[in-house]
Amino acid sequence: MLPVIAELKPWADPEVVSIGRLPMHVPLTRWDTLDEARSSTTSPWSMSLDGRWQFRRFAHPDLVPASAVAAKEPSGRWGTSAVPGNWTLDGVGDVPHYTNVAMPFDGPPPRLPDEIPTGVYRRTFRRPASWKRHQVVLHIGGAESVHAVYVNGSFVGYGTDSRLPSEYDITPHLVAGTNTVAVVVMRYSAQSYVEDQDQWWMAGLHRSVYLEARATVHLADVVAKPVWTDEGASLSLDVRVASHDVTTAVPDGWQVRARLETLDSAHLVVRWDDRSDTAPIPSEQTPYFFAGNCVSLRGAVPRVRPWSAETPQRYRVLVELIRPDGSTAEVVSQLVGFRSVEVRDRALLVNGKRVMIRGVNRHDHHPERGKAVTPDDMRADLAAMKRHNINAVRCAHYPNDHRFLDLCDELGLYAVDEANIESHAYNTSLCHDSRYRGTWIARGSRMVERDRNHPSVILWSLGNESGYGSHHEALAAWIRHADPSRPLHYEGAIFHEGWATGGRNVTDIVCPMYSPIWAVEMYGRRGDGDRPLIMCEYNHAMGNSNGSLADYWRAFENTPGLQGGFIWEWKDHGIRQSLRQSPEWRYAYGGQFGDSPNDGNFVADGLMASDLVPHPAMREVAWVHRPARISLAPRSRGLIVRNADSFRDLGWLVATWTLRHNGVIASRGRLKVPKVAAGSSVEIPFPTGITVLEEGETHLSFAWRTRHDELWAAAGHLVSWDEVELRPAGATRRASNTSVGRVAGKVSHKPRVLDLIDSPEPTLWRAPTDNDGFKLMTQHHGGGKALARWMEQGAHRGLPAEATHRYVEEELADGGLLASHTFHLPESLADPARLGVSFTLPEEFTHVRWFGRGPHENYPDRRSSTLTGVWGGAPDELPYLVPQDFGLRMDCRWFELVAPSEGIALRVIPEVPRLVHCSASWHTDADLFAARDQSELIRRDFLTVHVDAATRGLGTGSCGPDVLPQYQIAAGRYRLRYRLSVRVLSS
Ligand code: GAL
Ligand code: MG
Repeated sequence: MLPVIAELKPWADPEVVSIGRLPMHVPLTRWDTLDEARSSTTSPWSMSLDGRWQFRRFAHPDLVPASAVAAKEPSGRWGTSAVPGNWTLDGVGDVPHYTNVAMPFDGPPPRLPDEIPTGVYRRTFRRPASWKRHQVVLHIGGAESVHAVYVNGSFVGYGTDSRLPSEYDITPHLVAGTNTVAVVVMRYSAQSYVEDQDQWWMAGLHRSVYLEARATVHLADVVAKPVWTDEGASLSLDVRVASHDVTTAVPDGWQVRARLETLDSAHLVVRWDDRSDTAPIPSEQTPYFFAGNCVSLRGAVPRVRPWSAETPQRYRVLVELIRPDGSTAEVVSQLVGFRSVEVRDRALLVNGKRVMIRGVNRHDHHPERGKAVTPDDMRADLAAMKRHNINAVRCAHYPNDHRFLDLCDELGLYAVDEANIESHAYNTSLCHDSRYRGTWIARGSRMVERDRNHPSVILWSLGNESGYGSHHEALAAWIRHADPSRPLHYEGAIFHEGWATGGRNVTDIVCPMYSPIWAVEMYGRRGDGDRPLIMCEYNHAMGNSNGSLADYWRAFENTPGLQGGFIWEWKDHGIRQSLRQSPEWRYAYGGQFGDSPNDGNFVADGLMASDLVPHPAMREVAWVHRPARISLAPRSRGLIVRNADSFRDLGWLVATWTLRHNGVIASRGRLKVPKVAAGSSVEIPFPTGITVLEEGETHLSFAWRTRHDELWAAAGHLVSWDEVELRPAGATRRASNTSVGRVAGKVSHKPRVLDLIDSPEPTLWRAPTDNDGFKLMTQHHGGGKALARWMEQGAHRGLPAEATHRYVEEELADGGLLASHTFHLPESLADPARLGVSFTLPEEFTHVRWFGRGPHENYPDRRSSTLTGVWGGAPDELPYLVPQDFGLRMDCRWFELVAPSEGIALRVIPEVPRLVHCSASWHTDADLFAARDQSELIRRDFLTVHVDAATRGLGTGSCGPDVLPQYQIAAGRYRLRYRLSVRVLSS
């Protein structure tokens, strides 16, 4: 039996939040000198315990024998496991388990399953000689779900909250020579009910573990409040000093000295209120009047620059602890930023300015490391966000490793720090259940105590999807008292109590999720709420998705009170899984580990693939968020350049223009732009040398690239782009179908079109996207919306009988084909996936070219980021985890399938309508529909080509609004007429 806790069973009692755990504080590393604090990377007072630990899994904490945590090497079969790591990825019998709302075991809370997988991690260490007289503290960065600590067989303590560190004083248990530490981690506990987030249930020590030595008198906490306002900047520091010897407390004569400097160590003047950078630590007085060994230093800072996501200016605060003899006992350093955050006049203001939140929600996830993301993984995520003009990240739905916030401070991202509280399966009961009150407050308050020095954190979030109750009120009150400098965020409050005035005590932001555009617009226009609206989640990125992103942004930017939002979500949570057959591995989703119940591929709803390859929608994300914008001035007299940022001018970007005639680059040059201050516009003349075709199409596009290297992108990185169409004075638009492109290849005889293809087949079907319906969960979620309807109509088997289709084809003298389709789409078939035709081509057709929107994939409600040009390349590969429709290119003036080895191309030239939407893929629609994951997808030796007169948009129906009516296909009569002709490639 496990000493102590086998009797107490704290894992089963929601009221036991911790045993023997030390108070939370901001992350502190102790150094001996100022210079070490500035530049060293490893402190002599810290010792990492990361690496491979001995590991053994038990089926229940009751089954763990005392010998497993004893000093003596245990018997039995022990393996090893990585720390940080998740043992659910180790193949020891526990697999990752994915559920969205449902708990992985039956309630009601706090009921636990019969089996509670329990991992015992153990390793040895020696206390360094220099640590003899120090307090030795064990730091556990994160353990899912709860853990108990033993040193040399003695029970030390117990901790909860998988996403925050726990620290324990292990000094009394240490021996000379080799010491053994054992950490027992229970996969499920009464706390699991408040960690019911939509993600994989994992298990293990997923964040770093280390030891720290604290001298008898030491710095226990440093709360820095750097403030920036228009009137000036100030710094205040609340420093807590502690003695680990509780019998003596802190003796007289100790002092604290503070210093502010740049990151290059240049000293900055602080006009300290008491004219001194040094203050005595009060020592014990009459307890009744004694506020503790705390000191506050405050001063005005005349010469600093503010921190913002656009200008992430940081400074170093050094705090020295001074002994009574004047020598330095220890030094800690905090990197800070001067800024202010407030909600005023229906706006969230940073440094007094309204900032648009161009945000994403991010979970900790790595396809191979699970929850154990490294600092490099975090940096890669954040740098990729910056490269897509994302300026804010919601830590969905729990605090991250503290180094994540360091990176947000450094790179420049606003963070919503969210308490690790989600009781989704018991959404409206646990927040009133007194047994869970303590954990609510512990989770939220400990987050604040750890993270409050980060300039990036602009909002505290009370958690996610946990109803609204007195626990929230209590936590909010605690936070407002402890840190009045940041507004609060909690979606549950406005969800349950309404947007206009609901849940005021606990949220300063109206932060709905997935609301339709009309609803958020109405909130803004009606003006009956005095809080800003920032969507905490919107535009669900599951599979081929993110329809209407530009429509959301049109609303956000043009409606008072609306201030952006956080796209759900950053990345797919696919987990790399070995397979016995070919292919040898896949990215697995819920259920593919045999985990049940599960919510399938709902875990793969990211803008980025599991391996951080951007999905095509990321181009649209970057575009809607772009800081520099160009449009035609009224009456086309010139151009309007607008700076959508809040703090910096556009000088960090270099602008160029590109002129395309009929899609082909005719000329380009540098765009001369005067200074455009943040939030303002200027009008500039057209660049010289712009010629507009009298016959044909002229497009002028603009690109803004980084002038210098940034921390997140090299110089020359494309930040913003726009395109305008130019028309000759008095002319009406007219397409030209002449081609000027060349594709090298051998010239051969010119076949007839009908030698290459069979007559095009009409179709209303596409391999459903995740938004069309959940093909993998038809029983679960009713298959969803459009998909169920289309299948009922039989659209997947061919053109439904109620649709009429007339086809006339005429072979032309040159072997070409004039194809003419007339469709009648009755009301009963309104809103199909597409209205068009498809045909196949032999595998020699390895390339595509088109004059239309590109270069990336685009759909009717996700095409704002495209440029109109002649584009080409190999057909797209499926970018999505679950096979579904992909690869459309809209508004093609022509679309060409190229067989370089044959020296020919087959060109589709639309006549009615003038623009068609096309795709070409190595997969048939039936294959895409049948395959449950990429490993099942068949690649054919022929190309499937689609030519649509109309295509349905994408919407975000997997979680949120379906395709808007203007992007659906109405009932009615449609014509589709085009020529197919074979072109011999010029070599
Ligand atoms: C929200 C929730 C997220 C996620 C999302 C759907 O309701 O807050 O955690 O489940 O829906 O992917
Ligand atoms: Mg949820």
